[in-house]
Amino acid sequence: MQIGLLGYGTVGKAFYALCEEQPTLKVNTLLTRRPRGLVCREVSSFEEILNDATIELVVELIGGIHPAYEYISSALRAKKHVVTANKAVVCAYYRELVNLAAENGVCLRCTAAAGGGIPWLSSIGRVARMDKITAVEGILNGTTNYILSEMTARNAAYGELLKEAQQLGYAEADPTDDVEGYDARRKLVLSANLAFSALLREQDIPCIGISRMTVADIAWARERGLVWKLIARAEKKGDAVSAFVCPTLFPAATPEAQTNGSANLVSLYAGRIGKQSFSGAGAGGWPTASNVLADCLQIAGGAASFYSDREVAPLPICNDGEPKTWLFRSYGRYAVRQETVADALEAFAAVSEIDPGALLAHLPYGML
Ligand code: HSE
Repeated sequence: MQIGLLGYGTVGKAFYALCEEQPTLKVNTLLTRRPRGLVCREVSSFEEILNDATIELVVELIGGIHPAYEYISSALRAKKHVVTANKAVVCAYYRELVNLAAENGVCLRCTAAAGGGIPWLSSIGRVARMDKITAVEGILNGTTNYILSEMTARNAAYGELLKEAQQLGYAEADPTDDVEGYDARRKLVLSANLAFSALLREQDIPCIGISRMTVADIAWARERGLVWKLIARAEKKGDAVSAFVCPTLFPAATPEAQTNGSANLVSLYAGRIGKQSFSGAGAGGWPTASNVLADCLQIAGGAASFYSDREVAPLPICNDGEPKTWLFRSYGRYAVRQETVADALEAFAAVSEIDPGALLAHLPYGML
């Protein structure tokens, strides 16, 4: 199968190299802003790929929403299959792109868009065909997991670790997406959409990132045998979905707490199958490119148009529906003038309408 490859960054480069080992796949043309000296044809205009009838599959690895959306949608309209690792564009245009693929009888796959090298979306698609998935959750961002685990292991400062994560090729072009939790939220939307045959809007999901976490927060947790992780979770509740992205504390012996570096750990819960968890490299060139390659091989082997043919319907996000008895133990750090902890708790209770006694009972773990 002849491939038109868009982009030659960390993932594009690794994907190109992986394809060289594949007898059934060939990168015929690369769309690139500057010459790379490769064996394949290199072009600077997408039209050359679009108008090349020998190219059956477009692999989009340029990232961002525009022009990725225009490239993907016109490739699908031209009846070319599309594989992408771009969560932002698939998340923003989910229904439209899924429908376009189906209408044109071609495949759209984006397994590398959530979970890096883990076959997470393809596993959700597989389970959703045979069981009812009730929840998806986990560590879905490699950059923040790298920062949090290194802050925990070696007391390094947040800024220094963010630079390291960028150098290692984990972070997004704009790392704000990672550290503010937006990247994990997009991956959560893709996971939940597929799991629940839903259409969630990312901006409806409450999202707290890690950019305000300090060594004091890490130390506070460590002293209590707890570890911080950025968790994304979505649960189907009747006709709504409860969903959030939030730093969460785990006892040190749990699998979540022991998921370090750029690794991801994701789980789904289904009625008959129960809980299934998947872990592995959540970011980085080779793992992500491997999932892109897996999608291409699926398509070459005759995969269906999308992971699921089920009609998707918009579902509202509702985090305060039934049961009203959900309890979260919460963590907060304050700069207060009060002299004593009791005074500080009293002040917090006054603004948060929480009884100070209950607040003391809720310490020491939960969410930031
Ligand atoms: N920036 C993303 C992460 C890359 O850190 O997880 C993989 O999607």
